[in-house]
Amino acid sequence: MDGYPQKRLIRKLDLELFLASLKPQPNPQASLEQYTTSEQIAANMLYLAAYTNGDIADKRVLDLGCGTGRLGLGAAFLGAGEVVGIDVDPLAIHEARENRAKAGLAFELINGDINAIVGRFDTVLQNPPFGVQTREADRAFLVKALEVGNHIYSLHNHPEVDERLIKMLKSSGGMVQVQPNTFLERFIAKHGGQVTAVYAMLMTIPKMFDFHRKLKHDFVIDLYAIKK
Ligand SMILES: C[S@@+](CC[C@H](N)C(=O)[O-])C[C@H]1O[C@@H](n2cnc3c(N)ncnc32)[C@H](O)[C@@H]1O
Repeated sequence: MDGYPQKRLIRKLDLELFLASLKPQPNPQASLEQYTTSEQIAANMLYLAAYTNGDIADKRVLDLGCGTGRLGLGAAFLGAGEVVGIDVDPLAIHEARENRAKAGLAFELINGDINAIVGRFDTVLQNPPFGVQTREADRAFLVKALEVGNHIYSLHNHPEVDERLIKMLKSSGGMVQVQPNTFLERFIAKHGGQVTAVYAMLMTIPKMFDFHRKLKHDFVIDLYAIKK
């Protein structure tokens, strides 16, 4: 941690409490895969970026597909220099504006497609649609993130159901370092990026859409740390 320009060290629990105080997507649309990143997963991503890698404090941060602003506001809370968020859904942006007002943090919000983003960012944070509704929808997010960002933190579906890993994650409650998915790693390399680490985490989502058959669904999500 030494050597990074941290303004102050925020406890992970305080970060999780801050994230939990933000309103989630009120009317999620299945076509846009609008589920809100849980506060534990968002906090793990932000902590890795901020305190392990020094990619948040005083940095220019982009939240791609920001939804109600959880990742971007989390970055602002940890002392990012400037944060921009974009989402195609006007209702999500409306909620993100309300969350921004409640948090009292600087966060530039744009209602539009991710392709409207130009310029350069030190860090990109994203929980893209996994492609459950539209095949490989996460790929367009990776391409844009690699076009504009130097350090990317991106969540992706774990490639297979691994009961042993689920059990391990349930008992540890944290992150387990795993190997990257070969296809995703090749795709990232083709677009000029290098996967530096992948961490598996347990994500639990409540029943949100008609096609969800269980009241809650546990699945493994992989956090990719990528450098350009
Ligand atoms: C899985 S949600 C994540 C939301 C938020 N980042 C979070 O972590 O809670 C994915 C978000 O991407 C947005 N989205 C999907 N396709 C998009 C596109 N082409 N351009 C901009 N936003 C998009 C959706 O509206 C949704 O809010």
